[in-house]
Amino acid sequence: MTLRYLTSGESHGRELLGIIDGLPAGVELAEEAVSRELARRQKGHGRGGRMKIESDTARIVSGVRWGKTSGAPVGLVIANRDWENWKERMSPEASDFGKAEAVTRPRPGHADLTGMMKYGFDDARNVLERASARETAMRVAVGAAARAMLAPFGISVVSWVVEIGGVRAEIKGSPKTLFRRAEASPVRCPDDGASRNMMEVIDRAKKDGDSLGGIFEVTVLGAPPGLGTFASRDMTLDGMLAGALMSIQAIKGVEIGIGFQAARRPGSAVHDEIFHGPKGYFRRTNNAGGIEGGMSNGEAIIIRAAMKPIPTLYKPLHSVDIKSRRAFKASVERSDTCAVPAAAVVGEAAAAFVIAQAMREKFGGDSLTEMKRNYDGYIEQVKKF
Ligand SMILES: Cc1cc2nc3c(=O)[nH]c(=O)nc-3n(C[C@H](O)[C@H](O)[C@H](O)COP(=O)(O)O)c2cc1C
Repeated sequence: MTLRYLTSGESHGRELLGIIDGLPAGVELAEEAVSRELARRQKGHGRGGRMKIESDTARIVSGVRWGKTSGAPVGLVIANRDWENWKERMSPEASDFGKAEAVTRPRPGHADLTGMMKYGFDDARNVLERASARETAMRVAVGAAARAMLAPFGISVVSWVVEIGGVRAEIKGSPKTLFRRAEASPVRCPDDGASRNMMEVIDRAKKDGDSLGGIFEVTVLGAPPGLGTFASRDMTLDGMLAGALMSIQAIKGVEIGIGFQAARRPGSAVHDEIFHGPKGYFRRTNNAGGIEGGMSNGEAIIIRAAMKPIPTLYKPLHSVDIKSRRAFKASVERSDTCAVPAAAVVGEAAAAFVIAQAMREKFGGDSLTEMKRNYDGYIEQVKKF
């Protein structure tokens, strides 16, 4: 069974839309659960003005009846609360043509210039409205539905920030403790000292009109061994996770387990040795980040992603006006200074969806009951191995 999703919607359009196809019947899905995830994405020290205007909530418009999925595609809608101020500038009506000035000044680090070239547009708004990370609100909503499907299997997805603007956190403790501390931190960082330093560098960057990137870690807990495959390389779990994480706006690097560190160590200091005890096979280390040969191996799945600094700067960068071909320095209305904490929440959603896809692929079934039966049978097989 293939699980897939589509999103639609512009940053200042009327609404964001999401359709998820392939969820089994019987998954408990509530609007509040989706909205709770949306609220987590909106947090974080260093966010810009928009997060104050908008408090996102999701509506479930199809595929759910009396709190449970029916097996039909699930439709989700998130309204853009600023729509009233944009309805002429973003109107679908031809009669509103020309009611907004064209954006002819492409911003460095954004899709603006190449997008205009590619489509032959003379107005960057046609590009930037969709390229914007506003779209990640719907991806978080889609991820919330994936989480709802994973919960009955005891699978959860958590995240924390490990670095912002060169300030590194010390990551010590169980995933549950790290997650709890991250939830309480204004920068999603489980290390209190590092949290304070991160806030300081964000404030300094803001004052300087600059922006900052960083690194976050997503951990998947409770995934059974055998999700993904070694047999078809386009369906490897690490390949799918890397693709999903890399597709998030501003993500420029993805690692699994110790990732790039593995390239600097000898094999004896990288590969996780296999042991057998009363509870079956186990490993004492998890440098592989829970994935070997394109498959989950039963350990926690650990993914790290690097986010570049926000490209819209109050300290303007050089660019060229496409109408006059004259140089100018980009001006800014409102923008985040640092969105790494929010990106971590988007990263959780992206990972949750891939894990849900791999679970659907492996266990199939039209209903959650049928899927669970297949899953339970498989777990018996693994236990006996
Ligand atoms: C959660 C989140 C919030 C973001 N907020 C902003 C923002 O306020 N201003 C901005 O210029 N870029 C922001 N970005 C980054 C841009 O969307 C992204 O860098 C841009 O679309 C170019 O895509 P690319 O960096 O993947 O090449 C944000 C990204 C994420 C994940």
